Amino acid sequence: MTLPAPYYQDEATTLYCADCRDILPLLPNRSVDLILCDPPYGLDYNNGDLAHCWEAAFGGDKSRMKPRPIANDGQEDAYALFEFMLTAAKDKLLKGGCCCCCCCCCGGGGPKPLFADWTLMMDRIIGFKQAVVWDKGGLGMGIHYRRNYEFMLIAQNGSPAKCWNGGNNTANVVRINKIIPQEHEHPTAKPPELMSFFINIHSNPGDLVLDPFAGHGPTLIAAKAAGRRAIGIEISEAYCAIAKKRLSQEYLL
Ligand SMILES: C[S@@+](CC[C@H](N)C(=O)[O-])C[C@H]1O[C@@H](n2cnc3c(N)ncnc32)[C@H](O)[C@@H]1O
Repeated sequence: MTLPAPYYQDEATTLYCADCRDILPLLPNRSVDLILCDPPYGLDYNNGDLAHCWEAAFGGDKSRMKPRPIANDGQEDAYALFEFMLTAAKDKLLKGGCCCCCCCCCGGGGPKPLFADWTLMMDRIIGFKQAVVWDKGGLGMGIHYRRNYEFMLIAQNGSPAKCWNGGNNTANVVRINKIIPQEHEHPTAKPPELMSFFINIHSNPGDLVLDPFAGHGPTLIAAKAAGRRAIGIEISEAYCAIAKKRLSQEYLL
């Protein structure tokens, strides 16, 4: 099997519009400096069932509550996909390279303790390093405790760390305002500045960054802006199209 034609390519960035389970096995082993990703949550997020949360968050603004489901976001699908990705990541990462995963809108809460399950899975397959809290600014979704933060779970493929540019004064809480996506945008859009934070700490200029769930492209944009090479994989053509447009712009951030 050979890699398919990229959906988008420039001197630094390659984006495949495909299922990452088809692409990851075709990438060379021990070639990736950093994996930075935001997998499907396994919460059937934004499929309409969470309308009560959206109502609480947006005061009944129905235009913001339209279902925009994410592929492979059923609980079993998402857990299996995450496990597949971590197993592939272990092979693709260079020694001491990190795999940083957004742990989604769970914000430490239910219905399932995703952050705990995923932390244990990362530790079993790659080796757990740290959980970083992303403080997202204003109140998020949820009832009772409204979600104000997300975890970024970090695994490291053996010691020592291949790259650490954070010195001795990097806190494990990062404060960056969230994006509130509009109806036509990706429902779980991450700010490129969040991705820049991890890219700058865990990789050097010229390094290769991989995002197997690229969405509308924040990792790729942050990587390109920071002078890294990047490979993205995204199954939805609609989100690839947004990523392609953003990557083609002169000013990225
Ligand atoms: C949580 S979202 C990532 C959003 C992204 N961080 C952004 O800001 O645009 C997960 C993404 O994974 C994609 N996805 C789901 N299953 C996939 C698969 N098997 N291979 C590649 N992408 C997949 C979904 O289409 C969705 O865009």
